Amino acid sequence: MSQPAGSPSSVAPAASNSAAPANAVAGAAPAKPGAPATREQVVAAAIREISHIATLPEITLKIVELVESPKSTAQDLNKIISADPALSSRILKVVNSSFYGLPGQIASINRAIVMLGLNAVKNIAIAASLAKLFRGGELTANFSAKHLWGHSNAVAVGSKMLADSLRLGLADEAFLAGLMHDIGIMVEMQFDRAKLIEVLQKVGADSKGVPMSDWLKAEEECFGANHQDFGIALCDKWRFPKPFVYATGFHHRPLELPNEARTIASIVYVADRLAGALEGGFRQDLLVTDIGADVCEQIKLDQVKLDAIRKLFPDEVKNANAMLA
Ligand SMILES: [Fe+2]
Ligand SMILES: [Fe+2]
Repeated sequence: MSQPAGSPSSVAPAASNSAAPANAVAGAAPAKPGAPATREQVVAAAIREISHIATLPEITLKIVELVESPKSTAQDLNKIISADPALSSRILKVVNSSFYGLPGQIASINRAIVMLGLNAVKNIAIAASLAKLFRGGELTANFSAKHLWGHSNAVAVGSKMLADSLRLGLADEAFLAGLMHDIGIMVEMQFDRAKLIEVLQKVGADSKGVPMSDWLKAEEECFGANHQDFGIALCDKWRFPKPFVYATGFHHRPLELPNEARTIASIVYVADRLAGALEGGFRQDLLVTDIGADVCEQIKLDQVKLDAIRKLFPDEVKNANAMLA
């Protein structure tokens, strides 16, 4: 059980930025002097510490809010995006890439929204912002922020393919959830690089990048929390809709969610394993890439559909890499 939330002035042991906003993360309890930090305290401290780096641009938050609002129209979105020329041109580049396979050249944001829908354009805008967070160079021979970004792209593509194949009407949401799922590892990297290197060394890897021991356990030992905890807190801070909280916080354990909340997290779980099995893909946090039959059952994913996706997956990932590079 977590303790009650601390007063705004309380500082968790690892926090160095006491001027951080008091409401960065709910549920952060004050530390008793000398007491080990609780999971909540560690996570709150990390989010406070990195808050100057991990901000999504105001415009991205506006776009998320707008698309989540039932009253929003294509015109509203067009207005916001068109006010930012850099974002507009980035979106048009993506829209015109082979990933979407649209006929002819799309020259305006308005047209892009008409062709792809509000949600897809929102996701492109968020993806463009997220890419900027995956910076920080190489930590070990097996790990760099770029490597993790490549993996995130692959999981996004796999999640979209799964959602399409299952005809859930969730393809855009699944794509973005896949893109974000391991963002907690970036929180760890920005918060305490030395500790993440410790995790990497503890876990170890063979020449193919296959881990030798359990990543989440190593995170718990080094940080006192794992990347799912950090991911949940960041999504909360960004006020992202619940499915993203579930995907970042439960992609290693989707069946621990209530039944009605499992779909996106289960899709991301499967895509994570598909991506982990790709040659050269990041899979430090996956001891095995087997896909649980219980998770397949949860989303009604049969072997025929899974095999079809597995076959097309590597080429789709290559296309998307060209788009999001
Ligand atoms: Fe993960
Ligand atoms: Fe992953």
